[in-house]
Amino acid sequence: MSRTMLIAGNWKMNGLTADGEALARAVAAGSTGVGCDLLVCPPSVQIGSVGQVLSGTPLALGAQDCHAAEGGAHTGDISAEMLADMGCGFVIVGHSERRADHGETDAAVQAKALAAYRAGLIAVVCVGETEAERDAGQADAVVAGQIGGSLPNDATAANTVIAYEPVWAIGTGRTPTAEDVQAIHSHIRATVSASHGAEMANKVRLLYGGSVKPGNAAELMALADVDGALVGGASLVAEDFLSIAANCS
Ligand code: PGA
Repeated sequence: MSRTMLIAGNWKMNGLTADGEALARAVAAGSTGVGCDLLVCPPSVQIGSVGQVLSGTPLALGAQDCHAAEGGAHTGDISAEMLADMGCGFVIVGHSERRADHGETDAAVQAKALAAYRAGLIAVVCVGETEAERDAGQADAVVAGQIGGSLPNDATAANTVIAYEPVWAIGTGRTPTAEDVQAIHSHIRATVSASHGAEMANKVRLLYGGSVKPGNAAELMALADVDGALVGGASLVAEDFLSIAANCS
């Protein structure tokens, strides 16, 4: 099954307007000849300015979160429709930092993914175990539970990307071994196959995230069930992001 790889940059809460524009310009300038899909997810207040820089380039624009509702009295929140209106094609939902910092449950993440579909966005649904859960041998069960609770019944390979991001690997410079990454990605695909059918499971893109760097990307991106990366820290340096993307095939 051939799946087009996706390298996504999650800029998190970093940089001011000029930084975001410069980063987007540098990524776009260096992206010629990259053999996969590229996505950048700036802070929400920079979606407009980064979108202008990326206009006419093949790079996709995404957001880091959305509210489940279409509109209304939700101070400080942003709807999926607003993101689509600003030119976004993707939205990350259920990132572990939002699950931890904002108490987002699987049900809340599922509602956000449904909001993404409603607005015509592709949802990047994030799952991943903590270090304590992995040490207790629960990684597979935790991730299967998150998939079960966060992935809407309406999820398809066209409207959804799944990102496996072990919490203990995010921003730490540590990653699971290649064998462990392949094993859990294969487990995620089997879980999706059981809930959404084999066709969806074979087609859906599974990204690995958590300390993906130029130095480890080749090994991780070569794994059979890894279809790209969700990159945090290294996506803030255009050269590093592009060097990770150079491992796409
Ligand atoms: P990191 O972040 O690449 O800095 O580990 C990944 C993520 O949180 O998406």
